[in-house]
Amino acid sequence: MNGIFITFEGPDGSGKTTQLKKLGEELKKLGHDVLVTREPGGTAISDQIRSIILDPVNEEMVDQAEVLLYAASRAQHVHQLILPALEAGRIVLCDRFIDASVAYQAYGLGLDVDKVKAISQYASSGLEATRTYILDVPVEVSLARLHHRASGSGANAQQLDRIEQKHVDYHSRVREGFHQIAADHPDRVKVINANRSEEEIATEIWSNCNRLLEEHFSL
Ligand code: TMP
Repeated sequence: MNGIFITFEGPDGSGKTTQLKKLGEELKKLGHDVLVTREPGGTAISDQIRSIILDPVNEEMVDQAEVLLYAASRAQHVHQLILPALEAGRIVLCDRFIDASVAYQAYGLGLDVDKVKAISQYASSGLEATRTYILDVPVEVSLARLHHRASGSGANAQQLDRIEQKHVDYHSRVREGFHQIAADHPDRVKVINANRSEEEIATEIWSNCNRLLEEHFSL
């Protein structure tokens, strides 16, 4: 596979989607062939699964169903969209991937870490990211940003989804989960302090990504 697979992770309200879009635009300006996508989602089937998972109406969803729905969405996304793009040599930027299942479903919900990893790896046929940026912010900051977004009016107003509505302790466990993932995969994962200006964050990601591209294209 000639392409590069870069994922963005972090708590809700960490600003990862903004940074991913910025990076995608910069890479496109340099003439790279970039696919920007997200999980859960990215294909019509995966987007339908996303609606089921995140709909606040589905409060009776059991943990096992939640893990399997994320995995089902991922299976379709990987095989229909991501793998063909990587085989065509494209740079794939994905907003969340397997680390999100490990942080949210294993560390957040308290499910077995190895089982959640095994289910996710089955779904992705073993595909792993080349580089992962975890945007890290204290839980109070990320939750304050989410509530600010939800209380706004006009085009930017967004209701909190089923996962975002969970208790602060849950979000703290998720953040700890991301720290553990970073410690377990020091070569793949780069933790970015996201409690700074958008420009500072973008500059750090850009310089790290440039080094990755240099290594990749000099091989
Ligand atoms: P988003 O807000 O980044 O679009 O992600 C949607 C929500 O889904 C977010 O709260 C994180 C959660 N999520 C999981 O719990 N497990 C997963 O495997 C993925 C991909 C997302």
